[in-house]
Amino acid sequence: MNVLIVFAHPNPRSFNRAILDTLDEALRACGHATRIHDLYQMRFRAVLDDDDLARNWRGDLPDDILHEQEAVRWAQGLVFIYPVWWFGPPALLKGWIDRVFVRKFAFDFSADGMRGLLQHEKALILNTLGGDAATYSRERWEELLMRPLAEGVLGACGVRDVRYQAFYEVTSCSPATRQAMLDEVRALAALF
Ligand SMILES: Cc1cc2nc3c(=O)[nH]c(=O)nc-3n(C[C@H](O)[C@H](O)[C@H](O)COP(=O)(O)O)c2cc1C
Repeated sequence: MNVLIVFAHPNPRSFNRAILDTLDEALRACGHATRIHDLYQMRFRAVLDDDDLARNWRGDLPDDILHEQEAVRWAQGLVFIYPVWWFGPPALLKGWIDRVFVRKFAFDFSADGMRGLLQHEKALILNTLGGDAATYSRERWEELLMRPLAEGVLGACGVRDVRYQAFYEVTSCSPATRQAMLDEVRALAALF
């Protein structure tokens, strides 16, 4: 399978980067082809502005968006790796979705309402958090993290099978716990 990994963390020495490297290696070892779009390294322009809206309307998309859409089309599997910042993705990733998943590419409207146009079989969302799992479970906060991207974006755009995995307390856990998390990441490659 072709797998596009969209990565949003500014620090190349972060735990998120270790997750990216681990998953990429495991996917390739399973025989999949991967492409990594490291949004900070690409200096992706993240703000959907007035010019973008006008160009969307005319169907005259800028080259940076066409480039991203080509990569999304190339893939049958999508992966998103990012830290949770204020209960959501870094603004750069939110802006990537705003600008790339536009009408007539990711979705369209029909008489029955919105219709997803993406054909991907699978998507995987990997999050890291400073908070602890017990609190997120008790307060049902994990739903707030998962559902906007898993259902509001990917599900709505037609992606059939979306798996969500959060790693808690990554800022305070032991090196052994982090290693165990990376082992879990490696095992997740089998989803594709
Ligand atoms: C701007 C910002 C907002 C954050 N918001 C949250 C949050 O809402 N919930 C949480 O559990 N952790 C939050 N954190 C902690 C990050 O999730 C944590 O630092 C990150 O997952 C650690 O991964 P890293 O070592 O790869 O950076 C936040 C951190 C930053 C910098």
